[in-house]
Amino acid sequence: MNSDFLKYQAQTSPYPLGMEVSHAIGSYIYDTNNKKYLDFVAGVSACTLGHQPPRVNQAIKDQLDKYSHVMVYGEYSQSPAVEYCKLMASLLPAPLDKTYLVNSGTEAIEGSLKLARRVTGRSQWISCYNAYHGNTMGSMSVMGFEERKQAFRPLIPDVDFITFNNEADLEKITTKTAGVLLETIQGGAGFIEPHNDFLKKVRSRCTEVGALLILDEIQPGFGRTGKLFGFQNYDIVPDIVAMGKGMGGGMPVGAFTASSTMMDLLTENPKLGHITTFGGHPVIAAACLATLKELTETNLMEEALEKEKLFRSLLVHPLIKEIRGKGLMLAAMTADVSITNEVILKCQDKGLILFWLLFEGCAIRITPPLTISKEEIREGCAIMLEVMDEVLASLKK
Ligand SMILES: Cc1ncc(COP(=O)(O)O)c(C=O)c1O
Repeated sequence: MNSDFLKYQAQTSPYPLGMEVSHAIGSYIYDTNNKKYLDFVAGVSACTLGHQPPRVNQAIKDQLDKYSHVMVYGEYSQSPAVEYCKLMASLLPAPLDKTYLVNSGTEAIEGSLKLARRVTGRSQWISCYNAYHGNTMGSMSVMGFEERKQAFRPLIPDVDFITFNNEADLEKITTKTAGVLLETIQGGAGFIEPHNDFLKKVRSRCTEVGALLILDEIQPGFGRTGKLFGFQNYDIVPDIVAMGKGMGGGMPVGAFTASSTMMDLLTENPKLGHITTFGGHPVIAAACLATLKELTETNLMEEALEKEKLFRSLLVHPLIKEIRGKGLMLAAMTADVSITNEVILKCQDKGLILFWLLFEGCAIRITPPLTISKEEIREGCAIMLEVMDEVLASLKK
């Protein structure tokens, strides 16, 4: 591992993987020894169209040749951002017609929380146990995993937690609640889907008490679950949608969308109620626009469901207890954290990139680019099965 990486670049954990990246193209990443790795992770669900997607790269280059940053967000009309927000409005159900562009997923959550407070004038938040919404102070306040937030208290007060899929907990949503923030499919918790119309029940409870439903689509969004947004699988419309990750086709971005009636509240009393320098950056917005056009003008989203079937048919092994998730947001569950760790690390040695989920140690993350081919899926699953045979054999010794 490059010692300067450890010495000069701030680290997030004592055990970074430390691969030295040379280049990446399509579904493959190459290290500086020119070893090739098939990517089943896609930069943690961010590289929707794989590495160096031609349409996105071309849009970036074309925009760079026109103009890059010229003014803070919201002052000048810059066509990549305007076109993007207009296309997004045409793709989302009413009344979700106005988008605020920011720079990351956690900022999309911060903006959503501020908007819900402005709209309702209330203070209480409801989030879920094991929820992950980002790492800034506001997002961390609604994170449902005490172990990772303790050291950073005090955080935003008046946050209460419910268990995802537990209907009885919906009583906690009251006329004091400003917003209920949910991941449409829980990510860090282990790719847990909503069951028994849970989202519909949350939606109707929110409507009943006047609380806003904020859906965090940062991970399931942009085609990963077979629809542009995960919530479109469950026949509900949230008040605010937070997005990020796959939105930029590999570029750093976030956004939140709501009705214009709500969104306009951020412009007055006080004016400049939410501001950002780089939100809506023309080069990033051009990448987002190209990504969204590619997703909506091809069959990639529908194909995600066929590819899910292929994964499920191939990944049959005594060490895999269950495969969770939807589309290309899948988690292979083993019985033990140490098995998961061994499989992920050995697969990397054999040229297949897998990864962990934040709070569920038994999960093996499988979130490849949506552009992955069926042949590449077969190639990667064969490596997983070979490694799992080895791990199983060593367990029997
Ligand atoms: C569901 C969810 N919300 C929010 C975030 C935060 O996004 P970012 O890391 O871009 O701030 C993430 C990132 O992993 C996420 O998965």
